[in-house]
Amino acid sequence: MNPAEIDEARAQAQALIAACSEPNALKDLERRYLGKSGVLAGWLAGIPALPPAERPQLGQAVNRLKRELGELIVARSAALEKEAFERDAAAGTFDPTLPPPGVERGHLHPLTQLTREVEDLFVSMGYQVADGPEIETDWNNFEALNIPPDHPARDSQDTFYLDGPGPLVLRTHTSPVQIRALTRLAPPLRVIAPGKVFRHEATDASHEHTFHQLEGLVVDKHVSVAHLIHSMKTLLRGIFRKDVEVRLRPGFFPFVEPGFELDARCPFCTSGCSVCKQTRWIELLPCGLVHPNVLKAGGVDPDEWSGFAFGLGLSRLVMLRYGINDVRLLLGGDLRFLEQF
Ligand code: PHE
Repeated sequence: MNPAEIDEARAQAQALIAACSEPNALKDLERRYLGKSGVLAGWLAGIPALPPAERPQLGQAVNRLKRELGELIVARSAALEKEAFERDAAAGTFDPTLPPPGVERGHLHPLTQLTREVEDLFVSMGYQVADGPEIETDWNNFEALNIPPDHPARDSQDTFYLDGPGPLVLRTHTSPVQIRALTRLAPPLRVIAPGKVFRHEATDASHEHTFHQLEGLVVDKHVSVAHLIHSMKTLLRGIFRKDVEVRLRPGFFPFVEPGFELDARCPFCTSGCSVCKQTRWIELLPCGLVHPNVLKAGGVDPDEWSGFAFGLGLSRLVMLRYGINDVRLLLGGDLRFLEQF
């Protein structure tokens, strides 16, 4: 190799690149000159064998050529792409609205899909969708919900306490949004509030420290358990696309009186299955009539108004709907799981 040879290769390569009209042919040229076993790599490999005095000059010349040819190829490749684009555009065969090839379209998380569906359902029944912060005041999360500091109900909803102007907690349920709605909106009101909640849990297939609930609150004149049952049956018909029988069992929550656990007839079987554990009933949601102390805490007169509230476990509902057997999959971020929805 000598300077004349390098110049000759430059002239030849320049001409070939300029004349190249096909992306694959351009790739071949690139391989031929710049590839691992291409012309320039061969020269560079031969440099240590040259007399020491010639090495720097020739090494630099080859590297310069390498850079120049690289740039020429990139430019030619862009020009070819542009020509192809213009050809397609002129022929009317190019659809600029198509997504670029190789880009996969994402989709909504199953929890988000279900949340939106349930929101639509309640909005069609005249509810508004409310939002509350995930870091709540101790007052909204506990005290205003009839759970004073020494109440044993705090044990089952242990959470993280944060320093603030007053005590703050990672909210343990969406029920504090009841207090926010009561203090901000004048009754009559119908509100749902979906969102993330947190508990101090030892995690396993059915317990997670972070999960999703959807709170419901209706306050009006003469609201009764009958209204509550009707709304829940409407919800279930929307979700499972058929009429679902329900039953109420007594359940204790300090912020409702009376309080219930609402069970739904298992929508997946007629004679017992693994989802209902052969009982034909699925424990679906806790609910009840709003406790007068809660109405008072929200500035609403319990002698004039009454209401019902429910706490739908969104995570649980997603699991029921898709037969998911481990709650930790929901927020695990594993694409092999998420891509199935
Ligand atoms: N907030 C309660 C919980 O998370 C559920 C609930 C909501 C119960 C509304 C009754 C009424 O356990």
